[in-house]
Amino acid sequence: MDWNERFGDESYHYGEAPATFVKTHMRHLGDAARVLTIAEGEGRNAVWLAAQGYRVTAVEPTEAGRRKALDLAARHAVSIEWRAEDLAEFAWPDEAFDAALGCFFQFAGPEFRARILVGLGRSVRPGGQVFLHGFSTRQMANSSGGPRVEAQLWTVPMILASFPGWQVIRAEDHDAILDEGQGHAGLAALIDVIVKKPA
Ligand SMILES: C[S@@+](CC[C@H](N)C(=O)[O-])C[C@H]1O[C@@H](n2cnc3c(N)ncnc32)[C@H](O)[C@@H]1O
Repeated sequence: MDWNERFGDESYHYGEAPATFVKTHMRHLGDAARVLTIAEGEGRNAVWLAAQGYRVTAVEPTEAGRRKALDLAARHAVSIEWRAEDLAEFAWPDEAFDAALGCFFQFAGPEFRARILVGLGRSVRPGGQVFLHGFSTRQMANSSGGPRVEAQLWTVPMILASFPGWQVIRAEDHDAILDEGQGHAGLAALIDVIVKKPA
């Protein structure tokens, strides 16, 4: 997948609004919470998080994503720290954030996915939370988005395996209708996980 090409036109492939999961569950993180969001794409989640008053750091390697995200941020009069980096080489910070988000990072196979999950866990402080939202392996039956590669889709146990001893706040494999730009549209099988690091 050439993500720069995918994000190359002027439309926002997954829309300009945040994922419903983000809007529903990341509302009350506290004043000026420090939030990391990875594989951020064109900035829809980062901009909404920054608009809540959070201090947002976004990691995303594509130049097209950076350009469109910073344009969206300017239109919403918010700022984001943008790090144009590939997660394969990312130096995960230690306990630097109150919360971390991984939303539809479906490009990663099992080994890379586990490294990303461990990195997200490392990046939040004790008592901090990791928010994960993506396609379930059941999404193979749908055509509303995501890769046609089962190994890149998720189950709840496979996600929780990277967070031993953490408090599970939410862990759901459920169906919903997506209306997120041209990229995610229609009936989808989704995984939502929220976990809290032991204090
Ligand atoms: C399906 S999009 C999701 C974008 C965003 N999270 C959202 O929900 O709108 C997947 C994103 O992963 C990014 N990506 C792909 N490979 C990556 C890598 N190795 N490191 C970091 N990001 C990557 C792509 O550039 C793309 O922005």
